Amino acid sequence: MIINLLMAVVSVSVYPVQTLDNGLALTPTMGWLHWERFMCNTDCDMDPDNCIREELYMQMADVMVKEGWLEAGYEYVCIDDCWPHHQRDPQGRLQADPKRFPSGIKKLADYVHSKGLKLGIYADVGSKTCAGYPGSLGYYETDAKTFAEWGVDLLKFDGCYMNWTMLGEGYKNMSRALNQTGRSIVYSCEWPLYEWAYHEPNYTAIRETCNHWRNFADVYDSWSSIKTILDWTATNQRFIAPAAGPGGWNDPDMLVIGNFGLSHNQQQSQMALWAIMAAPLMMSNDLRDICPKSKELLQNRRVIAINQDPLGKQGNRTGVVDQFEMWERPLSGGRLALAILNRQEIGGPRRFPLTLATLPSYQYCNPMCNVTQILPMYQELGVQGLFSKLLLKINPSGTALLTVTHISINATILS
Ligand SMILES: *[C@@H]1O[C@H](CO)[C@@H](O)[C@H](O)[C@H]1NC(C)=O
Ligand SMILES: *[C@@H]1O[C@H](CO)[C@@H](O)[C@H](O)[C@H]1NC(C)=O
Ligand SMILES: *[C@@H]1O[C@H](CO)[C@@H](O)[C@H](O)[C@H]1NC(C)=O
Ligand SMILES: *[C@@H]1O[C@H](CO)[C@@H](O)[C@H](O)[C@H]1NC(C)=O
Ligand SMILES: *[C@@H]1O[C@H](CO)[C@@H](O)[C@H](O)[C@H]1NC(C)=O
Repeated sequence: MIINLLMAVVSVSVYPVQTLDNGLALTPTMGWLHWERFMCNTDCDMDPDNCIREELYMQMADVMVKEGWLEAGYEYVCIDDCWPHHQRDPQGRLQADPKRFPSGIKKLADYVHSKGLKLGIYADVGSKTCAGYPGSLGYYETDAKTFAEWGVDLLKFDGCYMNWTMLGEGYKNMSRALNQTGRSIVYSCEWPLYEWAYHEPNYTAIRETCNHWRNFADVYDSWSSIKTILDWTATNQRFIAPAAGPGGWNDPDMLVIGNFGLSHNQQQSQMALWAIMAAPLMMSNDLRDICPKSKELLQNRRVIAINQDPLGKQGNRTGVVDQFEMWERPLSGGRLALAILNRQEIGGPRRFPLTLATLPSYQYCNPMCNVTQILPMYQELGVQGLFSKLLLKINPSGTALLTVTHISINATILS
């Protein structure tokens, strides 16, 4: 009985709402985005290696192919704010800053495509971008057409300088304009982020319009920023988690792994929880110069497989006990991903006694399951029963990430 119930729970994927019908982002988008690491650095005279100019994206594209990033799944090289010229051209079209992008975006797209990668660009639903460059309000069709002609594959559409009462209309109009270009362009929105300040966003409408959407403030290169994002997500999971599914995802913002602010345990926690949240994996770091441990973590095939699970269900925080947080995400094939985050930031590693019978998703281990630890390091924990006790040792601000695979009695008898 319980087994039948389990199969019903994990095999029926009911999406309560319609998806944007562009065939894209069937699993969360993976790539690199310049903002958190490179921000609006336009000083190419003083800081040529880190300023926003065409070489930055070309170099990142080179490294992404050479160093196994593309092979691991990171496909989109994305430009954020501060790429355009301060004026539109005489035909009203956006143009790239001529000094920093002398070859133009089309050439850059050709270069990125020649490497087997895809190019993302940035614009804004309002009258200006957040950094004060020309916004797309009144130009949605023109800008969508320009991006399509350039060969752009993803648009991050910000929400600055827009009357919030018109946010939905603006985001929907741009969605339609992108569709009408006939080019497949991933549409990354910030609609709910700018709407939450006024009222609860309509996630049905958002999912119909966008491939992913930011709900909360920008990520910073710090553990306190990661914690704020996790806390916001857990507090609002009843609104946002049901909206996620193939074609549309909640976006908790960029991975800051490989930068300056997170310890290695905290980097593992960001990677594990972004996998549980079915988040787009957009790295913002310097891939030309990244430490081997961060690289290995970002390219960890088993964590990426959890993030990219085809069932496409976002996980939730399912419990908080003694400053341990438990997060669970149902996966395809009768599997469950389980993350246990140690939120105590004093002392040493703490032991977490995991009794599978006490899990909200205990059915996965009824009567037996196979448990694998993915982080902090790979380890087969073997066949376990409902009343097995697993003793996990978790470092302060670190996470243990596990997968639990249900073993059905039929399969056991047959094999
Ligand atoms: C545009 O939308 C229609 C239906 O809504 C869909 O069938 C088509 O694939 C979309 N085209 C693009 C390029 O997204
Ligand atoms: C925003 O739009 C509403 C409705 O059109 C209008 O009443 C309001 O004054 C506008 N707010 C601002 C700040 O422009
Ligand atoms: C969206 O499109 C409709 C229909 O063309 C138009 O009336 C409306 O003004 C547009 N809104 C925005 C914010 O562009
Ligand atoms: C939310 O959006 C959907 C789809 O656009 C619409 O059918 C529904 O009426 C909206 N709900 C509310 C409360 O406005
Ligand atoms: C967890 O997330 C799913 C969507 O993936 C949702 O349907 C469910 O109600 C959530 N459960 C809790 C306890 O928040």
